[in-house]
Amino acid sequence: MHTDSGYQLVRLNNGICSVRSLADGETFHPVVGPVAEAETLYVNQLRLRERLQNHAGEFVIWDVGLGAAANALTVLRATRDLACQIRLVSFDHTIEPLKFALRHAVELGYFGGYENYLEKFIREQRIEFHDGKQSVNWEFQLGDFPAWLDSKTGARAPAPPHAILFDAYSPARNPAMWTLPLFTNLFQRLDPQRPCALPTYSRSTILRVTLLLAGFFVGVGHATGEKEETTIAANDVSLITEPLNLRWLERALRSESAEPLREPVYTRSPLSPVTADMLRRLPQFVGDHN
Ligand SMILES: C[S@@+](CC[C@H](N)C(=O)[O-])C[C@H]1O[C@@H](n2cnc3c(N)ncnc32)[C@H](O)[C@@H]1O
Repeated sequence: MHTDSGYQLVRLNNGICSVRSLADGETFHPVVGPVAEAETLYVNQLRLRERLQNHAGEFVIWDVGLGAAANALTVLRATRDLACQIRLVSFDHTIEPLKFALRHAVELGYFGGYENYLEKFIREQRIEFHDGKQSVNWEFQLGDFPAWLDSKTGARAPAPPHAILFDAYSPARNPAMWTLPLFTNLFQRLDPQRPCALPTYSRSTILRVTLLLAGFFVGVGHATGEKEETTIAANDVSLITEPLNLRWLERALRSESAEPLREPVYTRSPLSPVTADMLRRLPQFVGDHN
């Protein structure tokens, strides 16, 4: 199918189109397609409609890996009938996949009605609009996300999020986006008084251990059609329906691939005795008898 500027349209087995990065060798939302995955993984799992309906003031969403904006637009569309104020902060080190996707908006099918907003967003890297009772304030943070998290952004930092859509390429291809320093810095950007949940598509033991050591509570996430299980992390355990339990910890202690990445290099190794000990002492497992 169509290729330009390093991206390609691909047709998935179910007939739906998605975007593929040729340089990174990865297809965005590769099995069920962009909208179905975003609805299951983020909109439904985060209970976004319910949280927005019960929320006063601005609800802040960080969209990590803007890519072709399928996650961001699916979230906006799924909540457009609600009276709500959404502040959406999208992070990526390139705007090219979005430009590519917008040129193929018809084939991709999820831009309907948002095309003009996105033209302006690409030009100005921010946009504000009202869609019925929904108000949207959307900004783009262009740059390397791990470096940004590591920097002192001070007063210029976006407001801490209530929800994070975490959608980097896979850890094997994109290890810099899955390290323990990254998730530790991300956790430190949260406001402890502001419950925040982060779902992501991986269910790997390495990722779950990484999130736990970074400070998050971690649970089993919804199936997506592609994966029978995903992962959800949060700074407030009430946002997680099925927290990982001691049985999961026992399996992790036996796993051949569980030690977090401390550098942006993909490696697989069992838990070190020090990491195993840290995990056993986490509040999530102390007192769990399942
Ligand atoms: C799977 S795609 C995201 C798909 C997107 N969420 C969507 O709905 O279309 C992963 C994105 O992560 C971005 N990315 C990868 N490494 C990054 C880094 N170090 N800093 C910022 N963005 C990065 C890529 O440019 C790519 O757009």
